[in-house]
Amino acid sequence: MAKPVSIEVWNPNGKYRVVSTKSMPGTRWINLLIEQDCRVEICTQKKTILSVEDIIALIGDKCDGVIGQLTEDWGEALFSALRRAGGTAFSNMAVGYNNVDINAASKYGVAVGNTPGVLTETTAELAASLSLAAARRIVEADGFMRAGLYDGWLPHLYVGNLLKGQTVGVIGAGRIGSAYARMMIEGFKMNLIYYDLYQATRLEKFITAYAEFLKANGEKPVTWKRAASMEEVLREADVISLHPVLDKTTYHLINKESLAIMKKEAILVNCSRGPVVDEVALVEHLRENPMFRVGLDVFEDEPYMKPGLADMKNAIVVPHIASASKWTREGMATLAALNVLGKIKGYPVWYDPNRVEPFLNENVPPPAASPSIVNSKTLGLPISKL
Ligand code: GLV
Repeated sequence: MAKPVSIEVWNPNGKYRVVSTKSMPGTRWINLLIEQDCRVEICTQKKTILSVEDIIALIGDKCDGVIGQLTEDWGEALFSALRRAGGTAFSNMAVGYNNVDINAASKYGVAVGNTPGVLTETTAELAASLSLAAARRIVEADGFMRAGLYDGWLPHLYVGNLLKGQTVGVIGAGRIGSAYARMMIEGFKMNLIYYDLYQATRLEKFITAYAEFLKANGEKPVTWKRAASMEEVLREADVISLHPVLDKTTYHLINKESLAIMKKEAILVNCSRGPVVDEVALVEHLRENPMFRVGLDVFEDEPYMKPGLADMKNAIVVPHIASASKWTREGMATLAALNVLGKIKGYPVWYDPNRVEPFLNENVPPPAASPSIVNSKTLGLPISKL
C-alpha cells in the first residue's frame, strides 16, 4: 500500500477535483480553477521526482484531472488509475511530452495537454546565453576570479571565439530553433545553416530581409542555407544548437561519429532533451578536444550527469532551466491548468496551439477552450471556432 502523500487544498468544496503534482509559479492558475468550481490539491511532498506509486496515491478514488511534470512517467499505470478515478484530463506543465505515453492516454480516453507558445523566447534566450557563455568562456573566467587567481591582465587570458561573421547551425528549426536563430543572427550578425525536415520559410524570409537592411546600411549582409543533411550543418557551423523533439529517430543524434565531423573549436548547445546527445561520447570528445565547448541544459539521465562531465572545464552545465523565466513559468502553469479545466468542462480545443496569447492576458477571462491537447484528433475532440 502506497504511503499517503502530503497535499495543500484550495477550495475544499469544489465540485471537480484537480490535482497538481507540484506547486507551480503564480496564483492565476489556481484562481482560474477555483472560479470554475474546482477543488485544487497541490502535492507538497518534499521529494523532487514523484514515483508512479506516489502519483497513484495522489489520484486516489476520485479525480477529474491532473497537472503533472516532465520528470514523471505518465504511462499505462497512471492513465488507467486516472480513468478508474473518473478522470479524463492530464496536462504536462511543459511543451515536450516524451515522458507521456500518448497511446496509453488515448486508450483510456484521457486528453493530454502541453504548453506550447509560451516558452519559445525564454528557451531560445537560454540557448543564446549558453552559446555566449561558451564562446567567451564566462563560467571558467568567473571561477578563476572567485578562486583569487587573477593577478593582472594578460594577452592570452580566457581567449574565446568571436561570433560575428561566424556560422550558427540549428538542428530543428521549429518555434524555438527559429527564435534562437533570429537572436544569433540579429544580435551577432551570424550566418545561418539549418537542418529540418520542413522548410523554415518565415525564418528564411526574415534573414533575406535583414540582409537587405544590413546591405542598405553599408554592412556585410548575413546569409542563410537550408542543409540537405544534418552532417552538413555539423561540418560547417561554428556554433550548433539542438532543437529537435526526442523520439526514436533523434535518440543519440549526436554521437561519437557526429562529434568527429564537427570543427575542433565548435560550440554545441543542447536545450532540447538529454538523450539527443550520447553523453558518454560527449565527455570523451570534450576530454580530447579542449577547445571544443558545450552548453548543456539537459542530460541523458536527469538529474544525473555521466561520469567525468562535471570535471570538464569546456562544459557549461545548468539544471534544465531553459523555460525558467517568471513570465513563462506562470504562463505554463496557466496553460496546463486551462488544458485540464477545458476538458473537464467539455470545452473545445483551441484552434491553434501556437497562438495562445488570449489565455495569457491576465486582464480578461481566458477563452472557453483547452489551449493545447496533443491527442485531440485521436479522441475526436471538437476544435474551437473562436
Ligand atoms: C521543458 O523542457 C519543456 O519541454 O517545457
